Amino acid sequence: MKLVVTGGAGYIGSVVTSQLLDEGHRVTVVDDLSTGHRDAVPEGAEFVQARIHECGELLAQSGFDGVLHFAAKSLVSESVRAPELYWENNVSGTLALLEAVRAAGIPRLVFSSTAATYGEPQVSPITEETPAVPVNSYGSSKLAVDAMLSSYSRAHGIAATSLRYFNVGGARGRFGERHSPETHLIPNLLRVAAGLEESAKIFGTDYDTPDGTALRDYLHVTDLGRAHLLALETSVPGTHRIVNLGTGNGYTVRQVLDTCRAVTGQPIPAEEHPRRPGDPTSLVASNQRARELLGWEPELSLEQIVADAWAFMRSAESS
Ligand code: UFG
Repeated sequence: MKLVVTGGAGYIGSVVTSQLLDEGHRVTVVDDLSTGHRDAVPEGAEFVQARIHECGELLAQSGFDGVLHFAAKSLVSESVRAPELYWENNVSGTLALLEAVRAAGIPRLVFSSTAATYGEPQVSPITEETPAVPVNSYGSSKLAVDAMLSSYSRAHGIAATSLRYFNVGGARGRFGERHSPETHLIPNLLRVAAGLEESAKIFGTDYDTPDGTALRDYLHVTDLGRAHLLALETSVPGTHRIVNLGTGNGYTVRQVLDTCRAVTGQPIPAEEHPRRPGDPTSLVASNQRARELLGWEPELSLEQIVADAWAFMRSAESS
């Protein structure tokens, strides 16, 4: 297929672009490089530096078979501080992109949605029927796009899939996580293992979990990427599917810390801090729908996620 990947210079977008190219697809990456890196765009992809608001001409020209839409603002705390960025980029930008998709008659779209759409659910595991009640503008902006896609697919026949990511980690060779600032747990712990920071922070030790720290469902980025290829292949015209992507297993912050210590062989000193505002106690996915609709199942363990993230971090440091 001939595909557009928005956000293909970012972490997940670059990994999925590399997987699409390996499967023989042709890929045009659109990225404004506001947070992405030009050198993260895999060789073999065409690159267009543009905002998603400005894709009309590009999409009209080239007979694309589909769009994978990753480009977004994605920091929860920033979304609380500056919600306008989230409505402008994630909602206005996606509306403009969808209009370009509709005008060009592109038949399918896969969208990066998030577990943040569920807010602070009281159930575990979380199914797609769990009420979506976001607690920050990041989650609200992604949920707004999910609603947009439902109405566009119904009215205009687009085959749309919203993939609700839980906690993504790991790397695929030279494609991995390079956020600045880094807020995610695994890269933060590995920065301490690598000697880039003195000690790690554990945010919250009074949660209602076995060891008091927050529980998350960690998914390897290549397992996540495979789901995108399957979503493209199985998509249904005129239908919008919402699908959770997670392993169904939860790990606490302390368990992740222990795994990072074991994989790296480093002590990783850690200090206890108060809860980070807005962090839910537990987010664990039911992946039954992903198994049924996409024929997908996760294959890689938390150990593999950490090992691949660690290998990526060390190679990035030495280059
Ligand atoms: N944490 C620490 N120390 C750190 C970093 C994180 O203890 O240095 C804790 C957090 O407080 C949280 C857990 O580790 O309890 C996981 O935090 P991450 O920042 O790695 O991931 P989040 O669960 O906060 O965020 C992820 C995605 C978001 C998405 C969210 C859904 O990165 O985009 O899941 O709730 F919105």
